[in-house]
Parts: sequence; C-alpha cells; structure tokens
Amino acid sequence: MKRRIIECLKESGGYVSGQDLCERLGVSRTAVWKAVNQLRADGYEIEAVRNRGYRLMQGNDVYNQDEIAEELRTSWAGRNLIFFDETDSTNIQLRLLAEKGVPEGTLVVAGQQNAGKGRRGRAWLGPRDSGVWMSLLLRPGFAPEHASMLTLVAALAVAQGIREQTGLDCGIKWPNDIVLGGKKVCGILTEMSTEMESIHYVIIGIGINVGIRQFPEELRDTATSLSLETGKETSRAALIGAVMRAWEGYYARFLEKCDLSTLNEEYSSLLVNKDREVRVLAASGEYTGICRGIDDGGELLVEMADKSVRRVISGEVSVRGIYGYV
Ligand code: BTN
Repeated sequence: MKRRIIECLKESGGYVSGQDLCERLGVSRTAVWKAVNQLRADGYEIEAVRNRGYRLMQGNDVYNQDEIAEELRTSWAGRNLIFFDETDSTNIQLRLLAEKGVPEGTLVVAGQQNAGKGRRGRAWLGPRDSGVWMSLLLRPGFAPEHASMLTLVAALAVAQGIREQTGLDCGIKWPNDIVLGGKKVCGILTEMSTEMESIHYVIIGIGINVGIRQFPEELRDTATSLSLETGKETSRAALIGAVMRAWEGYYARFLEKCDLSTLNEEYSSLLVNKDREVRVLAASGEYTGICRGIDDGGELLVEMADKSVRRVISGEVSVRGIYGYV
C-alpha cells in the first residue's frame, strides 16, 4: 500500500485528498494516515494540509529498493537488485553473493559504505546519502584477456548517465575516472574471479560523488561531486537507472567483437588527456608524451618525441596531466 500511495502522489504532482486515496486503494482513512506516517519514517517528505490532502515534497531524494527499481527500466542490468542502507563495500557484498550463484546483472547498492575500496588498494569515501555506491555482476562467456576493457565500457556508461541526468558533459581520464571541471567525480573498480581460460564473474564497482559538499583536505584539489558542479540536487535513483540503461547499450556493442572497436571513437572523444602532454608513471620509470587516444584493446597510445607510439596497459601505470591530475 505504501508504494501505491507514493505512486498516486507522484502521478498527481500536487495534493491528493485522503478521500481520493481511500477510494483508489480501497482502504480506510486511518489506514492511509498510518501508511503516510510509515512513509515519512522511511524518509519521504509528505505534507498534509487540511481540506487539500497529501502532497509529496519536490526534490526529496529518497533512496531505497523501490525507488531504484522504479527508475531502472532495464532489460537485465539491476533486475536483481539488492539494497543495503549501510554496508562495508558493495564490491565485497557482491563477491559473497556471486560465490553463492546470484545471476548476471545482480546490482548491489548501498546508502553508505564504511569500507569502500578504491583502486591500488586505496580506500574510497562512501558517506551516507552522498553518492551512488554500487556494484554490478557480470558472468561473461569471453576469455579473461578481454575483461580489462569492461572498465572503459563502464566509464562510457557513467559519463552518459551523468550527461542525461545533469546535462553536464563529463570527460574520461584514462582508463576509467570520470572527470568534471578537471576533477574526479566518479571512480570505477573492476574485480574478477577467473580460471585459466574462463571468467567466473566480474564485479564492476562504481562510486559517483553526488551530494558531497566538502571533501577532506587531501582530496579537495582532485575530487568533486555533482552537487558542487551543478549547484543542484541529482536523484541518485534516477542516476542509477540512467547509468544501467547506458551500460546495457554500450555492453551490447562491446560484445559484438569483444573489443572497443565500436566504442573507440566515442571513448576517445571524451578522453580529457587527448592530444595533451601526459606523464606516465610506470614501474620501469617515468616518461612523458602526447596522448593520442586508445587502441581497440583499451591501451593508451602515447606519442613520444621521436613520433614512435608507446602503448600503455591499464593497471600497470598511472597517467597524469603534466600540470596535475588531468
Ligand atoms: C577508484 O579508486 O577510482 C575506484 C573507486 C571505486 C569505488 C566504488 S564505490 C562502489 C564500489 N564498492 C567499493 O568498495 N568500491 C566501488
């Protein structure tokens, strides 16, 4: 019944009388009143005005299983949705579920992460109600050597989702940081379980800073959030829906050849480092060159002073702009 009330209020966009709700739901006024109070306890801001009825307040970013499920509108990604109000890390939780055999497309979302994982063993900030912290499960049939490209496909999907929901044009810092105004707004951590020739599963962990208004000192120069960039609220549930729908489209294109040939042009057009000088920090040493995009395997192409082109494999190196993060 709670869901039906929310649907009625959303549909109307204004006031709906208690009587109207009783009739539509076939329940008593007291039952409606109780359900409205429960909804308020769930985080929905519902105004009640004598002689007019109930109204759902605008801009109230309620984040729960139902809201996300309603926004998904996907054919497989996120159809099996698991929402945690609070957890350690969505990647950790999804790994446990994957081992138990949950299906491809299972999506774990958390309102708060207490032990979020970043790349290179770093921690990832996951404060309550301030971001999209989610992990998607894949069970691909292709060989493990193709898997490193998935993280680039995911970056395209996030960029598209953010564009759709905020109108902002994001860039991508190779391989998979999403960048706004020269700062990182989203990070992606892909983890997998493989055997010699096959993949058991892949977990794509996506962290989008949505409502973080202030970052710790050490991140202030390099991190940003959607609310800092837009000055507005962004619905996290709607954002998840947009990213998952975009993911389905890009992933289908990736699967045509199991490489980035169909996505390379689009990816390269979003690459913030393109045609700019980059510093490559490899284990074997540091060098600089001009970034010329990626090849169809997702490796970064760096043109050296003598015009030869070096291919940089993700995971092995860190790429920086010559003056800073981008
Ligand atoms: C990075 O270091 O850039 C990658 C950050 C990935 C963070 C996300 S948040 C959801 C998912 N769960 C985790 O523990 N990490 C990823």
